[in-house]
Amino acid sequence: MENIVSIKNGNKTYDNKFLALSDINLDIKKGEFVAIIGSSGAGKSTLLRSINAMNPLSSGAIIFNGKDISKISGGNLRKVRREMGMIFQHYNLIERLSVVQNVLHGRLGYMSNLKGFFELYSEEDKIKALNILKRLGLEDHCYKKASELSGGQKQRVGISRALAQNPKLILADEPIASLDPKSSEIVMETLKNICVEDNLTCIVNLHQVEFAKQYATRIIGMNKGKIVFDDVPQNLTEEKIGEIYGQNI
Ligand SMILES: Nc1ncnc2c1ncn2[C@@H]1O[C@H](COP(=O)(O)OP(=O)(O)OP(=O)(O)O)[C@@H](O)[C@H]1O
Ligand SMILES: [Mg+2]
Repeated sequence: MENIVSIKNGNKTYDNKFLALSDINLDIKKGEFVAIIGSSGAGKSTLLRSINAMNPLSSGAIIFNGKDISKISGGNLRKVRREMGMIFQHYNLIERLSVVQNVLHGRLGYMSNLKGFFELYSEEDKIKALNILKRLGLEDHCYKKASELSGGQKQRVGISRALAQNPKLILADEPIASLDPKSSEIVMETLKNICVEDNLTCIVNLHQVEFAKQYATRIIGMNKGKIVFDDVPQNLTEEKIGEIYGQNI
C-alpha cells in the first residue's frame, strides 16, 4: 500500500541543544490509524508537529503524498497544511463564535486571503459544514456558541473542523487528555469511525495505553526522542510497555 507520509532521518534540536527527536525513520501507509505513546517529554508532540511544519525538523525530510515538503514555505506550505487536519487537546475553538462558524474555519485554507479575512464562505461551504456536523451528531448544536458545549462536544467540533478541510491526513495531539472516560470513548469512537468510513489516515498522540490498544491499527512507542516500539497492538506486551515508559533505554 502507498505511503501517505514518511519521515527520513528526522532530527529535532531545540535552542537548548536538547535532542527532542533522534534519527526518526517512519513510513505511514494510507488508511492506518497510528497511536503514538510514551512518557511526557518523549517527543510525541514534536514528532506530530514536525509533519505539518508547525514545529519543523532541524534535519531530515518529510515526504507527504509523494512530495518532499521539508523545504517548502509560504503559499505552498499553506496548500500542504490544508490537507492535514489538526486536532488539539484544548480544542482550539473560537469560543465566542458559533459551532458552524468554527467548522467553517476549516475552509479558510481554500479561500483567498481577502475572502478569508471577511469570512465570505460560499453556500457550498456552509452546506458542507452543516452536513459534517450532522454526521457527527451535532445538528442540534450548530448555532450555539462554542463556549456553551461540553468538552466532548467541543472536541467533536474540532474533528468537524478538521474534516471540513478535506484532509488526507489527521494529526491529533492528545485529543482526549482533557476529557472524562465516557467522553474520551465517544471522541475516539467518532474519530476512528470517520477514518474507517473515509479511508483517512490518522496519527494520534495518546497518554492512555488502553485507548491506543483499543483503537489503533499500529502503535508507535517513543522514549527520549527515539522510536522504541512500532508494531500492531497485539504485540504490545506488558514488558514492551515497561520498556517504552522506562528510563533504561
Ligand atoms: N519549544 C521548546 N523549546 C525547548 N524544548 C522543548 C520545546 N518543546 C518541547 N521541548 C522539549 O522537547 C522534549 C519533547 O517534548 P514533546 O512536547 O515533544 O514531548 P511529548 O512526548 O509530547 O510530552 P507530553 O506527553 O508531556 O505532551 C521535551 O524534553 C521538551 O522539554
Ligand atoms: Mg505532547
